[in-house]
Amino acid sequence: MEKVPVFASVNGKVVPAEEARVSVLDNGFLFGDAVYETLRTYAGRPFHLDRHLERLRASAARLGFAPPWDDAVVARRLDELLARAGNDESYIRVILSRGEGDISYRFERVKGPTFVMVAKPFEPPPERDYVEGIPVAIASVRRNHPRALDPAIKSNNLLNNILAVREGQPRGAVETILLNDAEEVAEGASSNVFAVKGGQAVTPPLAAGILSGITRRIVLDLCREAGVPAREQALSVAELLGADEVFLTSTTKEVTPVRSIDGRPVGAGRPGPIHGRILQAYREYARRHARS
Ligand code: PDD
Repeated sequence: MEKVPVFASVNGKVVPAEEARVSVLDNGFLFGDAVYETLRTYAGRPFHLDRHLERLRASAARLGFAPPWDDAVVARRLDELLARAGNDESYIRVILSRGEGDISYRFERVKGPTFVMVAKPFEPPPERDYVEGIPVAIASVRRNHPRALDPAIKSNNLLNNILAVREGQPRGAVETILLNDAEEVAEGASSNVFAVKGGQAVTPPLAAGILSGITRRIVLDLCREAGVPAREQALSVAELLGADEVFLTSTTKEVTPVRSIDGRPVGAGRPGPIHGRILQAYREYARRHARS
């Protein structure tokens, strides 16, 4: 396989990924004591960097640390990274860890934070996903309870998501959906969920214990602009299985239609008309936004 060029910016210094170094004493590595964001570029420009940095800051604040720089400095450093990477379109991972400690819970000894950004060529999902829809599975493992580890904190502790994906993948699922403690639909392992019934879109509310997805927010607005009533409302498994259309939203998936859930076709078993309209509106929005 051809080697993919990956570049990293570690505390502001840009190097090829294989030369990038983070200490083995970093709390992110030892404790998962870190938060992150996944972004992509459109026309080479990071999409909604402002909203991602706002969410990164909010996640870090919940854990009692903060980025070392203001947003303008992060934006400049990211531009340097992207210039060095030279990709047409990039996948960007921003990671902020508490910093380097001494393998203990003595936070006063931690020197930090550690701020890392990684850029690699953006690999879009196969076009087939959008044309045919994807199969998804529902995991038996439940989404972290917000009173244990709030899914609103976008943390490097992805074990809950990994447990779910490890159930779904062997069953042929491209994405795995998690339910919450009340057995309602929460979210995908790395996406938010929308169901359409009778021309109306529903997505679980933040109170269901989910990440406040940036794509989710945009899609809610685009639905309303397109004349599709859209509500944030608890969604049962029966409602999901009985929906006319289901789609997933995320930075990397954009608006991806679901063809089947645990082997049962959704609606007619192919992407529906509302999905088509919203995907088109989302892509137009992203292109417009990149030019602005
Ligand atoms: N995933 N829910 C979870 C658990 C996620 O990890 C993500 C994002 C989303 C969608 O959020 P957004 O629209 O802001 O991308 C929802 C990213 C893509 C990831 O983990 O790489």
